[in-house]
Amino acid sequence: MSSVIDLLKSHRSIRKFTGKAIEPELMEELFNAGQSAATSSFLQGSTIIRVTNSEVREKIAELAGNQPYIIKAAEFMIFCADLKRAGNYCVDFDKPFEGDYTEHFIIATVDVALMAQSLVTAAESVGLGICYIGGIRNNPGTVSDLLDLPKGVYPVFGLCLGYPDQDPEIKPRLPLSVIVKKEAYNEDGDKEAIEEYDERIREYYRTRTGGGHGISWSEQVATLLSEKSRPHMKSFLADKGFKFR
Ligand SMILES: Cc1cc2nc3c(=O)[nH]c(=O)nc-3n(C[C@H](O)[C@H](O)[C@H](O)COP(=O)(O)O)c2cc1C
Repeated sequence: MSSVIDLLKSHRSIRKFTGKAIEPELMEELFNAGQSAATSSFLQGSTIIRVTNSEVREKIAELAGNQPYIIKAAEFMIFCADLKRAGNYCVDFDKPFEGDYTEHFIIATVDVALMAQSLVTAAESVGLGICYIGGIRNNPGTVSDLLDLPKGVYPVFGLCLGYPDQDPEIKPRLPLSVIVKKEAYNEDGDKEAIEEYDERIREYYRTRTGGGHGISWSEQVATLLSEKSRPHMKSFLADKGFKFR
């Protein structure tokens, strides 16, 4: 149908990379592609920090829960939501800074995700592999200190980028009937569709783990939502100036 659609449908996270570096000209093009994403209110509320220092990468890999691909990837970067850059101009134009509303947080966080995903699509289109790293939010304060992130800037996720040294299976997504609804929210038919999907996911994990115990999607997400999730984020964000007014 379209090579872009085929590319998007072939996505899978890559967690093993060859040692091959990414050419600087290509990196610049990937950043250009990322930056071309739509940006709410033209705020452009994202900042990318490239982490090249191997000691800092090792430290972040440990802080993110010992994820070795952070060290091995050709590139590792942290995507930050940034209200500081725009906020600086409130001072210049003698306006009160009111940039700590929940809405501003949403705007900046969405901007970051859109920019990252455009960069990711561009990277995958030239044969690179990627893995997002939400694990950096295990220790967002220490990660922020390592990168000198000021108030108004918070690390949303990391991204590993490099030439793949593995060819993992595509992870099946929920059936479209569960995701796409007509006119209004409803859960018609979802239970049955998810039961079938659970079986596909069990099989996916069994294959991936060489016959090991395959967990279903529903059990996996139920477990996720039954546990506390990074409860430090609320106070961390407040310290960074995101007050959620
Ligand atoms: C914001 C975000 C954070 C993620 N954080 C991690 C991470 O810390 N470590 C990891 O190995 N994978 C991470 N992932 C990858 C997901 O586990 C993966 O996208 C999901 O299981 C679907 O698999 P796929 O990308 O291969 O299709 C993250 C994905 C996203 C979107």
